Amino acid sequence: MRTILEAIGNSPIVRLQNIVMKDEAQLCLKLERTNPGGSIKDRPALYIIEEAQRRGWLRPGGTLIESSSGNFGISLAMIGAIKGYRAIILVDPKTTPVNLAMLKAFGAEVIVVTEQDDSGSYHKTRIALANRLHREIPNSFRPDQCFNPWNGQAHYRKTASELYGQCGGLLDAVILAVSTGGQVGGFSRYFREYAPHVKIIAVDAVGSTVFGGNAHAYLLPGMGLSWTPSNIDDLNRIDEVYKVADEDAFMACRVLARREGLLCGGSTGAALVVALKLAQRMEPDRRIVCIAADNGERYLPTIYDDGWMHECGLSVDINVDELRRRASELEPFSTHPPETANYRPELAESLDSPSHHLCCAHDQ
Ligand SMILES: Cc1ncc(COP(=O)(O)O)c(C=O)c1O
Repeated sequence: MRTILEAIGNSPIVRLQNIVMKDEAQLCLKLERTNPGGSIKDRPALYIIEEAQRRGWLRPGGTLIESSSGNFGISLAMIGAIKGYRAIILVDPKTTPVNLAMLKAFGAEVIVVTEQDDSGSYHKTRIALANRLHREIPNSFRPDQCFNPWNGQAHYRKTASELYGQCGGLLDAVILAVSTGGQVGGFSRYFREYAPHVKIIAVDAVGSTVFGGNAHAYLLPGMGLSWTPSNIDDLNRIDEVYKVADEDAFMACRVLARREGLLCGGSTGAALVVALKLAQRMEPDRRIVCIAADNGERYLPTIYDDGWMHECGLSVDINVDELRRRASELEPFSTHPPETANYRPELAESLDSPSHHLCCAHDQ
């Protein structure tokens, strides 16, 4: 009998049938919600923990300390529960009540960081505090998802090859929402090596500056960063970057639930807006896959709640034609991502990241 750890991976791919026209490309979602922790983050969490155990950096009874808006923290807390590690997770006010409750259910200690950093987000203040706690707590380990290249390596070794194998050669574009860059870094490296014809499309939030541009506050959970993360080690491997607005992404989530019976998180909605755009310009014998990183149940009190949407000043319209119109009007933010790179090599050191010396781990 398998344990919960062996149930991570092998997520199914489903085809959308009601929101795409017959003369457009096939549009599919790879449903990472089927991982036991409910999101794609189970994969890098397990990979990083097992790599640290193998190297002796994580010893029995140790403490995991991580900055996470929810999903990665939930995965660490779940894996920590079965492996006997204490988990301290630093979240921020954008973390949903459901995610907070899940962290606590798995026994994690949760710290809500409310101080914004210079970009108006919480990433840097969360990471700096996590690194300080790591220095103070003996026998602790920092998975360090934003700077640890094992994050991208997990997707390069497992998720990307799993997807390619499942598609039996019929795959033309993969669409990935971006935050730490683990997914897009690992997938882009894999596909450039093994199937270079597959287009790699990155999706950022309007207001995030992973690929440059103007920084401002946004609501999309699990997306964005105020710099280009080192897990995206070569921007040349990404074909196009799009930025999606909160309202469009949330409308896509709500349309997906009503018209396709799929309850997904905001980052899947953002990826779907871009997928609809691409499907409109590709032939029906082409296949586009969006990585659907998590589960909509986590966002029932927010994205799927009319009251919350009204409070945020967002439309509660659930209209597939309007969504398709908005998608058709979307233009790429960049078709040559190196031109708008926003790398901040000094950050890992100034935030005292414990993994900045691991930069070439892809090749180890
Ligand atoms: C729901 C969701 N979608 C997308 C992402 C982005 O993935 P990555 O951090 O690998 O860039 C995250 C990361 O936290 C996430 O939680």
